[in-house]
Amino acid sequence: MPTKYRLLVKNASQVVVICSNGEKYLQKDAVQNLCVVDNGSVVIGCDGLIKAVGPSDDVQAEYPEELFEKVIDATGMCVIPGLVDAHTHPVWAGDRVHEFAMKLAGASYMDVHRAGGGIHFTVEHTRAAAAPDLLASLTARLGRMLRAGSTLVECKSGYGLELETEVKMLEVIEKARRSLPINISSTYCGAHAVPRGKTVAEATEDVLRVQLPALRRRITAGDLRVDNIDVFCERGVFDLDATRAILQAGRDMGLHINFHGDELHPMNSAQLGAELGALAISHLEEVTDEGIAAMATAKTAAVLLPTTAYILRLPQPRARAMLEAGLIVALGSDFNPNAYCCSMPLVMHLACVNMRMTMPEALVGATINAAYALGRSDTHGSLEAGKHGDLVVLNCRRWEHLIYQLGGHHEVIRYVIIKGSVV
Ligand code: NIG
Ligand code: FE
Repeated sequence: MPTKYRLLVKNASQVVVICSNGEKYLQKDAVQNLCVVDNGSVVIGCDGLIKAVGPSDDVQAEYPEELFEKVIDATGMCVIPGLVDAHTHPVWAGDRVHEFAMKLAGASYMDVHRAGGGIHFTVEHTRAAAAPDLLASLTARLGRMLRAGSTLVECKSGYGLELETEVKMLEVIEKARRSLPINISSTYCGAHAVPRGKTVAEATEDVLRVQLPALRRRITAGDLRVDNIDVFCERGVFDLDATRAILQAGRDMGLHINFHGDELHPMNSAQLGAELGALAISHLEEVTDEGIAAMATAKTAAVLLPTTAYILRLPQPRARAMLEAGLIVALGSDFNPNAYCCSMPLVMHLACVNMRMTMPEALVGATINAAYALGRSDTHGSLEAGKHGDLVVLNCRRWEHLIYQLGGHHEVIRYVIIKGSVV
């Protein structure tokens, strides 16, 4: 009999579905929406999309095993949606291991930045790097993320700060998108820092008059895809007016607004993002109550980055206040030369311990809410018929082991599956 379906994952102890309503998903409903099917099975069609999820007896009565190209017997295992990492900076050359020692000795992020290190150090090395070398390191990093269960990852530019290198980075991301199985959402972050020797006004002009128009031409020509626009809105970096001008220009080109705000100082970034209809704002360690309320009303997702607060010893973002206000709380690794972490399971662990999120809230933050932050919650982030067949099979009887086993994802993750294929 010819096969009709790509993959059956059968008899899992638990299948964590995470129901969404297809469009706007609010984290405060996380617990109700974290549907767990005991002894469940998942069917993925030849188009790579999910056909059915449910109790094994029902699924197997309707979909006989012989119709499948591949069957995974998940007895004693769990299935969760592929993890979504809503914030990474994965394209760069030159690590900053030396700065880690400085920070451990007490230097702040901005001390290092002002001394010419931090982003400036990485910019220098990334400008000098050849595109194939950047692609090779990006491929290795995305491979690590994939092995840690991430199936959709946001990838930013932002270590060029001028047209040529920003385009080089976006082209590298585009090559990775076309050649690797992992799903990518790409972000132009040309306003990640003010280049050495330039004022904020000059840097803003360069983004508005040189970089964005050139990108628009490439996007229109169809040879480069860019999904989101980002700015580092921070005291001493891009102020509120510059941030507004750049984000508006990006939005006018059809990009989703998804930016760094209220990280080291309260900047009213949250209010600005809400006003501009931002899809997401990252960091928010210093967001005010008014900012949280504005984001809740605008349905702007908060992308919380537990690694940053941990490494820089910053105050923790107020996840509980955000959740209580009904914010859509997503998680990201913030992988970058400052926060060298490719593991969303570790990020979820930190979110639970340091930010007091529950494990269901953390999983929702690392799946459907992160997909929402990237404008992909209609196709990714939950195990529902019609969505992409991206899932992770865990070698444990309860899914919470993925978070509980600190740094233990290598042992817990058995298979990572994208569009029905084991990768
Ligand atoms: O999200 N805050 C700005 N950007 C990054 C850090 C980038 C870097 O230090 O290279 C962040 O933490
Ligand atoms: Fe970042």
